[in-house]
Amino acid sequence: MQTLSKVDALREQVAEWRRAGDHIALVPTMGNLHDGHLSLIHMAKQHAERVVISIFVNPTQFGVGEDFENYPRTLERDKLKLKKAGPHLLFVPEVATMYPFGLDKATTVTVPVLSEELCGSFRPGHFDGVASVVSRLFGLVQPDVAVFGEKDYQQLLVIRRLAEDLNLAVKVLAAPTMREADGLAMSSRNQYLTEDERKIAPALHRVLKRTAAAVQSGSRDFAGLEAQGHGELAEAGFAPDYLAIRRAENLEAPDRDDDHLVVLAAARLGAARLIDNVLVEI
Ligand code: PAJ
Repeated sequence: MQTLSKVDALREQVAEWRRAGDHIALVPTMGNLHDGHLSLIHMAKQHAERVVISIFVNPTQFGVGEDFENYPRTLERDKLKLKKAGPHLLFVPEVATMYPFGLDKATTVTVPVLSEELCGSFRPGHFDGVASVVSRLFGLVQPDVAVFGEKDYQQLLVIRRLAEDLNLAVKVLAAPTMREADGLAMSSRNQYLTEDERKIAPALHRVLKRTAAAVQSGSRDFAGLEAQGHGELAEAGFAPDYLAIRRAENLEAPDRDDDHLVVLAAARLGAARLIDNVLVEI
């Protein structure tokens, strides 16, 4: 695996692969890699001869008072993990490389409506930051496929929409959520939890699964189920931002006869803000 941080070197390498007829997959991350990230690399390898992973803690997707400064940066450990996972190229740009005109003059990509819902309403501007940095990475690497985790379900839909709306020649693939043995979705932010909070944390997935099971078995009182799930999270010790039942395709409020739904939640637990979701196919 080679590690590059400059645009020209990255472009040269990608162009060489392309001339050789290889397909290219991109896995964007912010590092502090865990098995969830590694599963995306595994999926990427099944869809392209060459896999590029990026590690970049993107300042534009963090709000004021969020954890940009403290976000765990563990590049040397990440490289050891990548040795086993086997991507072909690790791209680790500086902020000035990703935003050459400066953060205050940077072109911003906005996916309206989808970005304002759910997490977007609690983290204003977050998905603009995500859409902008992912657009830049798509422009740099021009991948044939890009792999994103279902764990960040709203992010996945925002990126799918931007690729479709801008006619980008990239296929966006979704990888299932990797979990700890007790159901907690793997996340770099889990390490913010204290020992006691870590014991509470799996309740998030349990409540989502219970809500999903109720929908699956025929309940259509979506508002009632949302209120109940919200209450269960609060009782478990979370400060919930939301628990919502939505159309899986576009996060709109569902009708009784929708058959492709998703139950999503975000909840704060100590210093961590955890998100998770469960898909419901009826
Ligand atoms: P990050 O949180 O590092 O996640 C990188 C990718 O890993 C995302 O596609 C995310 O959905 C996926 N991922 C995280 N936890 C996962 C898990 N438990 N199982 C499966 N996949 C998981 O998401 C970002 O970074 C950034 O917003 C980024 C897209 C890189 C833009 O800056």
